[in-house]
Amino acid sequence: MRTIFWDYDASAIALIEQTLLPDEFKIIRCKTIEELADAIKRLAVRGAPALEAAGAYGIALAAHQDFKDVEKMKSYLKKASEFLASTRPTAVNLFYGIERVLNVALKGNTIEEIKKLALEEAEKIADEDVNRNKLMGSFGAKLLEDGDTILTYCNTGRLATVDWGTALGVIRSAIEEGKNIKVIACETRPLNQGSRLTVWELIQDKIDVTLITDSMAGIVMQRGMVDKVIVGADRIVRDAVFNKIGTYTIAILAKEHGIPFFVAAPKTTFDWGKDMGDVIIEERSRDELIWCNIKCKKTLIAPKDVKVYNPAFDATPLKYVTALVTDKGVIFPPYDENVPRTLKI
Ligand code: MRU
Repeated sequence: MRTIFWDYDASAIALIEQTLLPDEFKIIRCKTIEELADAIKRLAVRGAPALEAAGAYGIALAAHQDFKDVEKMKSYLKKASEFLASTRPTAVNLFYGIERVLNVALKGNTIEEIKKLALEEAEKIADEDVNRNKLMGSFGAKLLEDGDTILTYCNTGRLATVDWGTALGVIRSAIEEGKNIKVIACETRPLNQGSRLTVWELIQDKIDVTLITDSMAGIVMQRGMVDKVIVGADRIVRDAVFNKIGTYTIAILAKEHGIPFFVAAPKTTFDWGKDMGDVIIEERSRDELIWCNIKCKKTLIAPKDVKVYNPAFDATPLKYVTALVTDKGVIFPPYDENVPRTLKI
């Protein structure tokens, strides 16, 4: 089942409500762009490639509201694209999905044509995501050997994409090829995408997974329990990989222990015209750090009035990255030459 899809009966975006996992599996439907924006901000839908599809379907959803006038419709679509783009600042895929569908939709001449063009383009983006993940998986699987134990971070699986996954997709593909692969999943504080989502996905697929806290990454490497690290990305710029907060720490630990550190991401995650300093790192609510469960806010795990700093992502300089696994192939350093050549950007 796809993480996000268009519900043709309801003219709505259907998505897996990820904040409830692993307690409850539920599909929610967004009928307005306001509902979708809320789902994105709450991380009901999350992960860079899933956000690309969410942005794309978001413009299709905007086009499915009631209109009587083509010019008013087009101006609403432009406003909707700015509104949806303002939900989360770091993953570049969100902007890519929105812009691509908006540009196609604006070429329509009638209300019906615009609706059709927008939805067709969004569906194309969702299908492309699944196909490119499988491609990335087959390229990346060559880096993993039979018997490897792979440490991963955050959630880069089906739930972070339309299906299959990026870094987790590489692991899935290697296993599908018959390799015996074990996974160590970091819990990924503060929102626990690792323990809640990655572990849930891997257990469903009967893949051998061991959960550790983020602070245990050092000991498992020091004790020789990790052969390789593979993570995803929210944006890759000329000098760094932006990914879930804590990725940078893992990359340095991997370097110190001589463990290969791979990053898997599609071409649409690259923003090669930019540098580390150009990217906004999302800062999230203090509630994520002070409550044991932010959904019910019953048990404090820190004094309520403590000062909090809660950046959701960090930047790992490319010098720590052994190879970039993309849907166009595996890219090794020097990245300043090989990334533009392989990705044609
Ligand atoms: O805040 P999130 O859960 O959207 O962050 C997601 C990540 O950082 C993932 O590791 C990244 O998007 C790669 S997903 C294929």
